[in-house]
Amino acid sequence: MDQKTVTDLHLSSADSSPTPTILNADDACQSLAQPSGRPARDTAQRLSDSLVVQDVGIRALACLAEVRDNATGLHVVRTRAYVQLLAQKLLVHPRFSAALEGDRLDMIVMATPLHDIGKIGVPDAVLLKPGPLNDHEFDIVKRHAGLGSAAIHKAIGQVRAFMGQALTQQAASAFACLQIAADIALCHHEKWDGSGYPSGLSGDAIPVGARLMALADVFDALTSRRIYKPAMPVEQSLQIIQDGRGSHFDPDVVDAFVNSLDDFAQVAVRFSDRA
Ligand SMILES: [Fe+2]
Repeated sequence: MDQKTVTDLHLSSADSSPTPTILNADDACQSLAQPSGRPARDTAQRLSDSLVVQDVGIRALACLAEVRDNATGLHVVRTRAYVQLLAQKLLVHPRFSAALEGDRLDMIVMATPLHDIGKIGVPDAVLLKPGPLNDHEFDIVKRHAGLGSAAIHKAIGQVRAFMGQALTQQAASAFACLQIAADIALCHHEKWDGSGYPSGLSGDAIPVGARLMALADVFDALTSRRIYKPAMPVEQSLQIIQDGRGSHFDPDVVDAFVNSLDDFAQVAVRFSDRA
């Protein structure tokens, strides 16, 4: 029997920032309509406040999901930082620039904490099982990808129905960020060669945010201590990630990781569960 542990859940998948970022309120404000004639500064302040609420809301939801199997909740902080490091490195890469330009890099970073929100739907007996998972239990764990994506889509649909068709740019931006969050939740366990789950997507069919999250998630699982394993040294984790270049991970994402290794190591230490 192919036995797997909850660690494999992370190792089968695919970003936080030491300095959390939000969308640039000033830039966004310049393109907002001003039907009421309110001063631009007031609109910018309201937009900035809304983005803070959005960011805090996302993090709060993520912490609720995370606290069940990670008491410190720092997994979402570290992985958000890792994704930001990868995205910044890839921003000028021709294969990634279109997906990361403008506000999209910040949206991906802000969306990452929701990647495992679907774990709320995984029973404690499976999620917290200290020993190996059997095939049936691993199938249950795999459902967290679809559950998380479906929950975010349902929330988007309910709010869209309430708001009607007329969306401000601010609202449209928030929905775009949540759509990215749904994509990451659904696809962060897909693999570059098509052997991942839930859909067996491969290559560029996997959303960029999910490809970044896949590597960040695995690196964090490797370098973090669990009740059933010690933390793996960064150098050893580097080798495992490199072994997955072109099979588990997008080759260019692995290259960006290798070129950011010192920054990854600093995040791992700064936000260690032991801190
Ligand atoms: Fe996951």
